[in-house]
This record gives sequence, structure tokens and C-alpha cells, in this order.
Amino acid sequence: MKVIHSKYKQRNMKIWNEVAPRYHKKWASVNKGPFQSTKKLIELVKINKNNLVLDVACGTGVVTKQIQKKNSNLEYVVGIDTSITAIKIAKKYNEKNKNLDFINTDAENFAFSKKFDVVTCQYALFFFPNAQKALKNMKNSLKKSGKIGISVHGSKYNVPFFSSILDSAVKYIPNYVPPGTPNLDRFGTKSTLKAEVRKAGFSNVVVKEFIFNYNPGKFEDYWKNYIKYIATPLKEKLNALEYSKCKEFKNSVKEKTLQYTKKNGEIIFPWQVLILTAKNN
Ligand SMILES: C[S@@+](CC[C@H](N)C(=O)[O-])C[C@H]1O[C@@H](n2cnc3c(N)ncnc32)[C@H](O)[C@@H]1O
Repeated sequence: MKVIHSKYKQRNMKIWNEVAPRYHKKWASVNKGPFQSTKKLIELVKINKNNLVLDVACGTGVVTKQIQKKNSNLEYVVGIDTSITAIKIAKKYNEKNKNLDFINTDAENFAFSKKFDVVTCQYALFFFPNAQKALKNMKNSLKKSGKIGISVHGSKYNVPFFSSILDSAVKYIPNYVPPGTPNLDRFGTKSTLKAEVRKAGFSNVVVKEFIFNYNPGKFEDYWKNYIKYIATPLKEKLNALEYSKCKEFKNSVKEKTLQYTKKNGEIIFPWQVLILTAKNN
């Protein structure tokens, strides 16, 4: 199991190192679709002045930036992530902010000498193969009175932006998702998310559901931009498909998007997001 996890982690790190600049441009730095959740997460976890905050899997620093913007009296914010490219972007994106640091480390293996008041983690818990280890790490890094705030995408049918393509991709492209890859919607229901966080020893666990809308344009825009965004290993698998199979694949995706397509051809996807808050004790 350990070997499978470490291979997956290396693959995932490589993917994030490639994708981070595109991710930042397309998603993280624009307050659209699922990223409307960043503000909600910060409100729900209630960060106070003088708080010491840790943002786990901080990516390109979008949560960190909003935390600072909301409360300029914060004692310190630390962001951690395994992608060195994401960390570099996060540093640049937050260069005007003081009392802030970004560190290249793993959510399952970090340790700090200081204890934090708040730990946040947006759109990353499902990437950690040993989510319990990461959650226990977060718990150990909190003060007794500390709190966590975690956002995840909802279950796949409630996030058709992903499932419209992924469900067909796994049908047409063998090994599209390599063995050992954790299921990305494994915490996509209130009960699974709550249970995982309770298991790690947190109390007062509350999960709130939000539905955001996301317009990826017309079908051709959605398809083209999705393919442009994905990392090289996936693109290679897609490019290896025979022309006729690729056409079939694209048609099957189009069919899935029809229920979200308006009369003018624009797609409006609903996007379910779950935001959890909990206390250390
Ligand atoms: C979808 S992005 C979310 C980034 C950021 N929290 C945001 O909301 O924009 C997922 C991030 O998780 C990071 N990640 C994946 N596995 C990780 C791990 N084991 N430890 C730390 N970071 C990890 C990736 O490098 C990536 O930056």
C-alpha cells in the first residue's frame, strides 16, 4: 500500500507542478464557480485577529490571500503544499502581504513547533491517500481551542463539470485513472466527510452545502478548454485514441451536457461544494 501511495503522490506532485500556472489563471485567482467558496470558508471558520493560521495544500495561495485581506491584524499565516511550482506562484501572488510564509511540505508529514488557532484546507482532502494521517496532523498542529475549516467538491453527479467528461473518459480510455488514485469524490457527501473528520478526533463537526453555478461557455469551449487544461500524461492518453473513438467520446460527453445547456447554447453547470467546520476539542 505504501508503495502505491508514494507512486500516486509522485505522479500527483508532477501533475500539480505542470498544472499550477493554468490552475491559478483559470480558477484560483478568479472568484468564479466553486471559488466563490473561499469567502464562505473563511467566514464559517471565523478567523479572529491575532490568530495564527495554517492553510494546508495552499496551492497558489488564494485562500491565504483572502484570509489576509479579511483580517490584516493576523499574527501569521503559513501555507503548505507539495507542489513547488504552486508555492512559487503563491509567494508571488502574496508578495505584498506581510506575516506570511509558504513551505513546500506534505500534508501527511508536516510538523511545526508552534500551534495554530485555525487550519484551513480547500479542495485537497480527497487528494491525500491517507486522509486520516493528514487530519490527525492538522489536529496535532492546533491549539486546544483550535478549529478547522475544510472545503470539498460534492459527489460526482452534483459536479457535472467533472463527471460529464470523466465518466466517458474512463469508458473510452483504458487506465485514464491509474491504479492507486484515490476517488476524488470520496468525501463528497455530508455523511462521509463528517465521519472522516470525526474519526480523526474532532468535535462539533458541522457541514454546510452550497451550490454555485459555473458557465464554461458553449460545448466547444468547455471541451477545448478542458483538454487544454489537463496534464501531459492524460493528454497523451487522449491523443493515442483513434479518431473515430475520440469522436464517439466527445459525442458522449456532449450528450451528458445537454441537460445543462440553455437555448442559446451556453452551459450552466451547478457545482456542489461542502464546507466543514470543527473544533479540536
Ligand atoms: C485543487 S488544488 C487546491 C489549492 C488551494 N487550496 C486552492 O483552493 O486553490 C490542490 C492542491 O493540493 C496539493 N496537494 C496534493 N497532495 C498534497 C499533499 N499530500 N500535501 C500537500 N499538498 C498536496 C496540490 O499540489 C495542489 O496545490
